[in-house]
Amino acid sequence: MSPLAAYPALRLRRLRQADWIRRLVRESVLTPADLIWSMVVHDGEGDVPVSSMPGVSRLSVKGCADAARQARALGIPAIAVFPHIDGAGKDAAGSLALDPDGLVARAVKAMKDAAPEVGVMCDVALDPFTDHGHDGLLEGGRIVNDPTIEQLVAQGLMQAEAGCDILAPSDMMDGRCGALRQALEAAGHQDVMIMSYAAKFASAFYGPYREAIGSGKLGTGSVDNPPDKKTYQMDAANSDEALREVALDIAEGADMVMVKPGMPYLDIVQRVVDAFSMPTFAFQVSGEYAMLMAAARNGWLDEERAILESLGAFKRAGCAGVITYFAPTAARLLGA
Ligand code: PBG
Repeated sequence: MSPLAAYPALRLRRLRQADWIRRLVRESVLTPADLIWSMVVHDGEGDVPVSSMPGVSRLSVKGCADAARQARALGIPAIAVFPHIDGAGKDAAGSLALDPDGLVARAVKAMKDAAPEVGVMCDVALDPFTDHGHDGLLEGGRIVNDPTIEQLVAQGLMQAEAGCDILAPSDMMDGRCGALRQALEAAGHQDVMIMSYAAKFASAFYGPYREAIGSGKLGTGSVDNPPDKKTYQMDAANSDEALREVALDIAEGADMVMVKPGMPYLDIVQRVVDAFSMPTFAFQVSGEYAMLMAAARNGWLDEERAILESLGAFKRAGCAGVITYFAPTAARLLGA
């Protein structure tokens, strides 16, 4: 006999019968304040559409400033900016990552000038700047951890100097959060926050991003180059290891942690939230964006409902917020 037979009057549908009661008993809520707008900047004029991400364009520096004002008006608290670097400017060391007058520094300054109330977050990683497309330095076909960290620390300090509020190391080198935290403190940037890409998986879902930022093609370039990022990003099959990664980054001084990709890794999100009670974010990555948009543009999904449901899932799983290319669309839908 079913245990529910003892409760003949238990009808769960009673609380679903009308919108007002559904709203009243709702367990999680998505608002524009939960969104970090993921944005690509390039060095040219105007917007350049990204073909694998319908609705997303690379913005000019001026376009980023306009977007920051838009974020403020829409109630979006922060923007994460990713640079598209021309192939000619790339080298094996990712030297342009350190340029204090480079694209990232100019975009950060333009956004903070336009809308100082909006937080700006920058990736700490070399991949937009290396001709081989990896996040670190290569020696003999291996990504070398500690020399990479030196380069990342210099990059992070440059970003902080430019006015970036949150440094987001996305490189998955061991020890980078601690090195960044120490360097920030020593340089008087004690208020600059760190959101670590703590549990970042080697994923097929980053494909469209690599087109968006014009990433160097893995397996090619000026030096001996592995064809994937599996020696530093996590194995997609692992879950306990994600908790170790998060624990280490917190111990090293990360203020917030992130799981990436998002939707295929909601189990990791929930474990991280349960284990650490830290502000935990998920990155709804380019491939997740592309999948939803491809289906929606074909008429196979209701675009607006699918966007809000996918973002709401992160709140249900316990996220403090979501980094997403849908941020302006979602904020408009939520505000409507
Ligand atoms: C680079 C980085 C990646 C993304 C954010 N930072 C790609 C990668 O690690 O290969 C992915 C973002 C997306 O797919 O939207 N360190």
